[in-house]
Amino acid sequence: MGVRFTGWGIGIPDRVVTNDELSLTLDTSDAWISERTGIRERRIGGTTRTLGATAGAAALEDAGLGPSDIDFILVATSTPDRMAPSTASMIQADIGATCPALDLNAACSSFMYGVRVAQGLIETGTKRVLLIGADRLTGWVDWSDRNTAVLFGDGGGACVMEYSEDVNDILSFSLGTDGTATEILSCHHGDTFTMDGREVFRRAVRAVVDSSLEALEGAGLSADDLSLIIPHQANIRIIQAVAERLGISMDKAVITLDRYGNTSSSSIPLAFDIARKEGRIKPGEYALLTGFGAGMTWASSIIRWS
Ligand code: ACO
Repeated sequence: MGVRFTGWGIGIPDRVVTNDELSLTLDTSDAWISERTGIRERRIGGTTRTLGATAGAAALEDAGLGPSDIDFILVATSTPDRMAPSTASMIQADIGATCPALDLNAACSSFMYGVRVAQGLIETGTKRVLLIGADRLTGWVDWSDRNTAVLFGDGGGACVMEYSEDVNDILSFSLGTDGTATEILSCHHGDTFTMDGREVFRRAVRAVVDSSLEALEGAGLSADDLSLIIPHQANIRIIQAVAERLGISMDKAVITLDRYGNTSSSSIPLAFDIARKEGRIKPGEYALLTGFGAGMTWASSIIRWS
């Protein structure tokens, strides 16, 4: 038996905020942001609930399913709209489902952790899981801090994962957490994000490379076997450093941060959905999904697209 991805969807706000617009109120410039991060614009708006519900409904439609076909909803987010109830509960009502619903938080790695949890649920008898990654990080940044305000955007991305008798899309996983790095990227209740950007950068490259190699080894593959790498979209220079160390051409990396910035839990499903719609992954091909986030947390997985 195995787990199969059967539908994908996204939910992104309409409002585009360019680097030039940010430089009207911040001591920054399009040149600095583009060169140092690769980000040119981001989308801002919605709530975690609305972004997630839009993505979830789109994934269900893509899978050809209705709300009553889903047995479990997982919402991967570090920016829930409320302490209680969970965003998953509210999204369950919005899309008209009646199954159990739960939030999970591993910061920007939340979606990948969610894939692992959904895989475990399916392996223990749950038939279909709707996994949604949604974050509204722009509600939690200090808009006078140029070190963080330029990095983030809002968005949602979702997938349907189903039990399969004969197909298995998930070949391997490598997850990790280092709780001693809590203070390098953090946001207290009611406060805004603080970050030691250089330290996050340094640790992210190391964690993503090591976990990608472990996931490749677990799948019995080498980097040359990959058709695509779908990395967390935090900084183009992090992605370039990872690709170089893994010996993977940047042509194989899916890049969306130029248009959407860092959308946290939704960055990997958003990138996957865009790559799929552009025909960049074909049946039978291998893709590496890999990300990192506050915690620090990291997660990599090799999937074979069926
Ligand atoms: N515009 C202009 N200048 C800026 C800006 C800006 N937006 N931001 C910082 N600078 C300045 C700094 O003040 C500094 O000036 P100084 O030398 O006079 O002190 C100079 O640029 C260089 O700063 P660095 O921090 O060394 O710049 P760096 O090249 O490291 O880029 C960045 C900073 C983009 C934050 C980078 O370190 C990075 O991307 N780190 C990883 C961040 C990340 O991935 N965060 C998300 C994690 S996922 C999650 O869980 C949310």
